[in-house]
Amino acid sequence: MPPSSFQTETTAPAMTLFAAIKSTPLKGRAVIPGDKSISHRALMFGALSIGETRITGLLEAGDVIATARAVEMLGAGVSRDSGEWVVTGRGIGGLMPPAGPLDFGNSGTGARLMMGVVAGHPIQAVFTGDASLCRRPMGRVLKPLRQMGLGAAEGDKDTLPLTLIGTDELVPIRYVLPVPSAQVKSAVLIAGLAVAGETTVVEADATRDHTEKMLTYLGAEITVVQASDGRAITIKGQPVLQGRPIRVPGDPSSAAFLAAAALIVPGSDIVIENVLINPTRTGFYTTLKEMGADIAFEAEREQGGERVADIRVRHSALHGVTVPAERAPSMIDEYPMLAALSAYAEGETLMQGLAELRVKESDRLAATEAGLHANGVDATASGDTLTVRGTGRVKGGGLVKTDMDHRIAMAFLTMGLGADHAVTVDDTAMIETSFPNFIALMTGLGASFQERSGAAS
Ligand code: S3P
Repeated sequence: MPPSSFQTETTAPAMTLFAAIKSTPLKGRAVIPGDKSISHRALMFGALSIGETRITGLLEAGDVIATARAVEMLGAGVSRDSGEWVVTGRGIGGLMPPAGPLDFGNSGTGARLMMGVVAGHPIQAVFTGDASLCRRPMGRVLKPLRQMGLGAAEGDKDTLPLTLIGTDELVPIRYVLPVPSAQVKSAVLIAGLAVAGETTVVEADATRDHTEKMLTYLGAEITVVQASDGRAITIKGQPVLQGRPIRVPGDPSSAAFLAAAALIVPGSDIVIENVLINPTRTGFYTTLKEMGADIAFEAEREQGGERVADIRVRHSALHGVTVPAERAPSMIDEYPMLAALSAYAEGETLMQGLAELRVKESDRLAATEAGLHANGVDATASGDTLTVRGTGRVKGGGLVKTDMDHRIAMAFLTMGLGADHAVTVDDTAMIETSFPNFIALMTGLGASFQERSGAAS
C-alpha cells in the first residue's frame, strides 16, 4: 500500500471555536481507541522484526499515522487489511535510507523513538514535524544516542528539523536518565538492539514499560535489576526479532477524559471498555479513588501481554488531595484533566513534580493554569507544582487557548460539561492527533457541544 493510501487521515480541519455546555447525565458503554504508546511501538518494532507483524486495534490517529508513514519510508511494508495493520519487517539493521524527510507531525514519541531506530542503521534521515514538535527539546534523546555513535549534520542543534546520521557501529553505554522519560529510555533501548554488546538504562522512577514488554515478546533479551542508582534495564544487542500478532488495548490516557466527564456531570454512570491498566499508566485512576471517586476496574484480564479492564465510573462528590511527585510518570499526560476535574472537588488539590509538563506539546503547566483562570477557577502554577482550589463548582464562560495541544483541548471541553456557562476552546484540530472520535464518543454518552461562530485568531 503506498503512503498516500493513509496520508489523508492526517489532514487537520480549519481552526474554529468549539464549546462544551452543561450536559444531562452521561450513560452507556464506550469503546475508546487503541493506546498511542503501544501503537507507535507496534509499528516500529514490527519494522525491526523478521516477517509479518499483524496489529489489531492500532490507534488510527495523526500521531500514529505519521509513524506508519515513516516506517514505510524506511523500507518496511505497511498495509491495512480489513481493520488489521500489517507490517512486513526488514530486521534490525535492514532499514533503508528514506527518499524524503520523515515528518512526525505533532508527535514527540514518534520522533524520539525513531531516532533510536535510525541511530543503529548506516543511513541518513531528515527528521521534522509541526510547529509544536519543532520547539520541543530533542537533546534529551540525542545526548545518549550521540554517546553511542549517532551523528547529525547540524552539529549540536537539538530541535527539529535535523539530519541524523546513523551507523552500524554503535557502542554500548550505561545511561542514567536525568529526567523520568519513557521516550528517552525507549530510544536508548531501541538503539541498543543494533549494538554488539549490552546497553543499560537506569531510571530512578519507573516510567511506562511498553518498550521492554513488547521487545521481549518479539524475542529480545531484556533484564531488569534494582541497582543503587535506580531500576537498571539491560538489553542484549543484535537479537533476531520475530514478527508476531499484537493486540492494542484501549488508551487509559484517552479514557481519562470520559472518566472525568462522568465524575463531573451529576447522575452519570458509564463503562469504558477494554482499557489498558498497566500499573505504569494508572496513576490518574489511583488519584481519582483517593479523591472519593466511585470507580472500579471490572472484568480484569490479560490481553496480548498487558492487563486490561472495563472501567466503570459513576458521578461522585470529590475532595482535594495531594498527588506525590513519584506518581507523576504514571499519569504524566493526565494532569490537564486532573487539574480541570479538581475544580469540581471540594478543597485544595496539590500536584507535585510536574517539571516535564513544561516540555509537552505545549507548556502544559502554563496552558492549564491559564485555562482554569479564564473559567473562574482559583489555581496557581509555581515551579513544578500546580495547586487548584476547588469549590465543587465551575463558573465557566471563558475561552481556552489550546496552543496546538490536543490534551488541553480535550481537558477543557470535558470541564465545560458541568460548568455554569459554556467553556470554549480556540481549536479542536489537534484532537485528531490522539483521539479522533472524542467528540462523537462523548456526544454518544450524552455530552453537549456547540460549534461557535467566528474563527479563532
Ligand atoms: C510516551 C511517554 C511520555 C508521554 C507521551 C508518550 C511514550 O513522554 O508523555 O505521551 O509513549 O513513551 P515522556 O517519556 O517524554 O515523559
